[in-house]
Order: sequence, then structure tokens, then C-alpha cells
Amino acid sequence: MSTISVYCQTFKALKSMENLLPSVSHYEDEARRKLSQHDFGYFAFAAGARETMKENCEAFKRWRFRPKNLQNVSRVDCATKVIGSKIPFPICIAPTAFHRLCTQEGEFCTAKAAESLGVGMAVSLWSNKTMEEIASDVPNCIKWCHVQLSKNRNLTKHFVRRAEQNGFKGFIVTIDEPVFRNRTHRYEDGSPFTFNTSIVSRNIAQSIKFVEPDKPHFASFQSWMDGSVEWDSIDWLKDITILPVVVKGILTAEMALKAVDHKVDGIIVSNHGGRILDSTFATIDVLPEVVKAVNCRVDVYFDGGIRKGTDVAKAIALGAKAVFVGRPILWGLACKGEEGVRNVLEILRNEFIHTMRLLGVSTIEELQTTPDIVVHETRYFSKL
Ligand code: FNR
Repeated sequence: MSTISVYCQTFKALKSMENLLPSVSHYEDEARRKLSQHDFGYFAFAAGARETMKENCEAFKRWRFRPKNLQNVSRVDCATKVIGSKIPFPICIAPTAFHRLCTQEGEFCTAKAAESLGVGMAVSLWSNKTMEEIASDVPNCIKWCHVQLSKNRNLTKHFVRRAEQNGFKGFIVTIDEPVFRNRTHRYEDGSPFTFNTSIVSRNIAQSIKFVEPDKPHFASFQSWMDGSVEWDSIDWLKDITILPVVVKGILTAEMALKAVDHKVDGIIVSNHGGRILDSTFATIDVLPEVVKAVNCRVDVYFDGGIRKGTDVAKAIALGAKAVFVGRPILWGLACKGEEGVRNVLEILRNEFIHTMRLLGVSTIEELQTTPDIVVHETRYFSKL
């Protein structure tokens, strides 16, 4: 490579670093400025009075650290395994729909950012790019396939086979949305929620076309999501694939035990970022109950309200093997495409590693096994 081209590349790299934003909340503000009100509103959308969505973030503040210092934290190793794949730090991308609202290249950019950092991405059933396109364009990204069960098992089976043929490493089954949301839901500013039907999910459309070629895909799917799906669908799914099946949307010990009984390969503590049922507890508040009930029989993962490295540290210390991130990824994607997603993940990773050092721990295992390194504030305030 010539000296001039090395200079050019370094200049370009420095120039692009200059444009990066310093925190996840800066990405949120910038995305709000950049996107149309409808598109930003779609990402910000939450159910009902938006209590659960707000609580997911607020609740983190009530969990506090109890650090131990004068430990050698010059080297920190935060590698872990998520749904069978080794990743260098415990932060992955949650399934979110319609990345094309952020950029024309949609899920390609998100997957490329995940690939470049070696972390995993859950590809939503509602992605604009198909599984086939993502697999061929970003072959080395660790990808999990998001599944939303409906009463049409042929549709799910077709979807499952496509994921298997395209190198997906497992299934993330969302169980907290038995029927589609109704029209009483509102945007941030109180105006009624409208679904943008002009943006097509080519991913699910491909499977619907296979099972019901003559009907509009959205109408078909809606009619199959009639609330009739039960736990036997998880048994059926486990029977038709050898890939791991992880259930997303567990919020109680009872549900976690049910999932263990049905031999799932993992659980994601999630309330869908507050988009489905309002007024549930924040996910960080229910995580300890689920971890205790599961008692190491399956891996427990976490999502909801992760905005800072300290949030990641709290979830991991309370027993999550890794966290998944939803809206911050979309804000990064909207602001700066692939580079924005990568930067959001890097910000969370760097803040997390820094937090580990300040806590005096140098591995994930140490963070999880140091007693009471994170406690709920009521432990102190109730004594006052
Ligand atoms: C989601 N989420 C979601 N979940 C899912 O299981 N399937 C999906 O297709 C989607 N789609 C989706 C779209 C958008 C715009 C958002 C914001 C979220 C929920 C997502 O996977 C995750 O549970 C939450 O986003 C986590 O909360 P945070 O990180 O957004 O606070």
C-alpha cells in the first residue's frame, strides 16, 4: 500500500471518529432530530400509558453497586457464550422490525456491525431484508432467527427451514404477543398509533407467499395470530429442529419454570421494551426472581432499558448471561448506519468494561459470584 493511501485511510478513519457521538442518549437525541416523527415514533412507541417502557429504564437507578477495590483489574475478560456461540462481550442485538425506516440498506448495516464486533444479532421476523439476503451479504454474522408463533404451523415450519438452510444458529421465540396490538395505543405525543403498511417485511412475506399465495401477507398473519397458541407449540418446535430454542418474554418465576419443563435452551427476561402489555414490572426488577427459579438449569438472558454500561453490569451481576439491546441499536442505525450501530455497541462495551474495573472484578464469573455486588436500594433505605 502506498504512503498516500495509508494517509488517506488514516485521515478517513479519524474523520469518521470525529463524527461519532459520545453516549447512547446522544444517539437518541440525534435520531429524534434525523428521523420523521412517524418513524422515530414507531421506535419510541410503547403500550398504554408507556409505564412499563419508562420503568424499564428508571428501575436500574434503584439497583446500586457495592464495589470491592484494590483488586488487579488491569486485564478484563468479558467473553461469554450466547445461544451456543462464543462472543467477546455480553451485549447482543435484540430482534427489532423494519430497519429500513433508518436506512435503505436496513438489516445489512446492523448485521455488518454485529459481524465486525463478533456479537450476535436476532433477526426479526419483520425484517425488511430476507434471511437469505442477510446470510449471503453478511455470512459471518452470528444470527438467530426470531419466531412469532401463530396457529399456522406450516408457516412457522417454512420459516424454520429457511433459517436452518441459511446458517442461523438458533431460534428466539417471542411469547408475549398472542394477538396483535389494538388501536388504543398512542405515540409519545398522544396521537393514535398507525401501522405503516407501505414498508413491507419481505422476510415474513416470503414464507406467507409460500403457504397462502393469494392473500395480502399482513392480513394473513394477523388472522393466524388469534391467541390460540399454547406451550405445546414450543414442544412441536423443539421436535422439528435440532437448533436451540430460546423463549423471549418471561417475567415471572412460574413462567420460567414452565419454560424449563418444556426443555427450552434458554430464557430471555423481557417485556418487549414495554410495547405490548403496559404496567408490568421492569425487567431488571424481575430478573432475580427468574434466575433463582431457574437455578442454573438453562441460560437466562435479559433485555429492556439498557442504555449504559452500568445497566449491563447490573443485569449480568443479577444473573443474566448476556443482554440484548433494542432501541439504542435503531438510534445508532438511524444516525450513522453500520458505523452508528457499531459505535453504540462499542460505547456500551467500553462503559461496561470500565464499570467492571471500578467494581474490582475482571471476569463475568467474578461479577456474578461476588455476593451482593449489586443490591436493591431498599436494603439500605428501609433501615433509615
Ligand atoms: C421491538 N421488539 C421486538 N421484539 C420481538 O420479539 N420481535 C420483534 O419483531 C420486535 N420488534 C421491535 C421493534 C421495535 C421498533 C422495538 C423498539 C422493539 C422488542 C425488542 O426485541 C426488545 O425486547 C426491546 O426493544 C428491549 O427494550 P429496549 O432495549 O428497546 O429498551
